[in-house]
Amino acid sequence: MRKVAVIGGGTMGNGIAHVFAMQGIPVHLAEMNRELADKALAAIERNLERMVGKEKIDAARKKRTLEHITTFTDVAESVEGVDLVVEAVPENFELKKKVFSQIDQAAPEAAIFASNTSSISITRLAATTSRPGQFIGMHFFNPVPVMKLVEVVRGLDTSDRTVQIVEQMAERLEKTPVEVADYPGFVSNRVLMPMINEAIYCVYEGVADPEDVDAVMKLGMAHPMGPLRLADFIGLDVCLDILHVLHDGFKDPKYRPCPLLVKMVDAGKLGDKSGEGFYTYD
Ligand code: 3HC
Repeated sequence: MRKVAVIGGGTMGNGIAHVFAMQGIPVHLAEMNRELADKALAAIERNLERMVGKEKIDAARKKRTLEHITTFTDVAESVEGVDLVVEAVPENFELKKKVFSQIDQAAPEAAIFASNTSSISITRLAATTSRPGQFIGMHFFNPVPVMKLVEVVRGLDTSDRTVQIVEQMAERLEKTPVEVADYPGFVSNRVLMPMINEAIYCVYEGVADPEDVDAVMKLGMAHPMGPLRLADFIGLDVCLDILHVLHDGFKDPKYRPCPLLVKMVDAGKLGDKSGEGFYTYD
């Protein structure tokens, strides 16, 4: 892998660009406009500085990492000459389909397409491109520079060679690849989101308030964050999107989103990113 493109510079996209560039791999980071591209680069600079502060890397490595990142505001241009494209745009099928249709012609024929989708069918996304055999799910976890897992999702037509290359790439990023089959929410969110949803039902039904629900899971189950703090961290809109994918995908009422979650998202209370969710953030 000589060069990688990352489409989308949000929390996941800039984290993905960060870890590739830190391994000395040139990264083309594409965003919709200059302002968002600069914001993504600033977030990477901040997180690298945090790692320098913790003496995990030195200032020279931070500088080299930033030199390996080039930002683009033209998605088609950003995939020229790359070997791998990692798509990390919001959790919406039509939006992801549009991005892949923009890059399918522009990217080299041999390039592998990976989606960082949290839950959407890889087989369905792959079928919108001319290269379903070179299409795969590469699901990273927030914060990307810290979390060790890459959930590798094999679509119905994904080739063994594509899986092998992407698993080797995950190890090169000092991550652990775990291969799973292509069903809604894969393993990670099929297990995580019902837990978060049930925690929200506990608040909705007055079993306990958010602080206490989180305290139970942190002190009782040694979770690093309680489920409601984690929901805020992930984004309540993202949690709702994933629950919808599970509910529609399995047609099982057990995945129906808690009405309180729906109401909070309707109110724009999305968690960290909006300054308020189950907790308030300055
Ligand atoms: N970049 C670089 N380093 C970071 C970082 C970032 N963005 N965020 C945290 N860190 C580092 C800190 O520097 C610190 O380093 P240290 O261990 O050397 O001290 C370490 O991570 C811990 O961070 P903090 O001390 O600031 O705070 P915490 O101890 O509370 O850890 C946390 C923060 C790592 C987020 C921890 O709370 C955690 O692991 N939470 C659970 C996260 C989780 O479950 N993520 C998955 C969500 S699901 C998902 O992403 C899938 C999607 O599809 C929904």
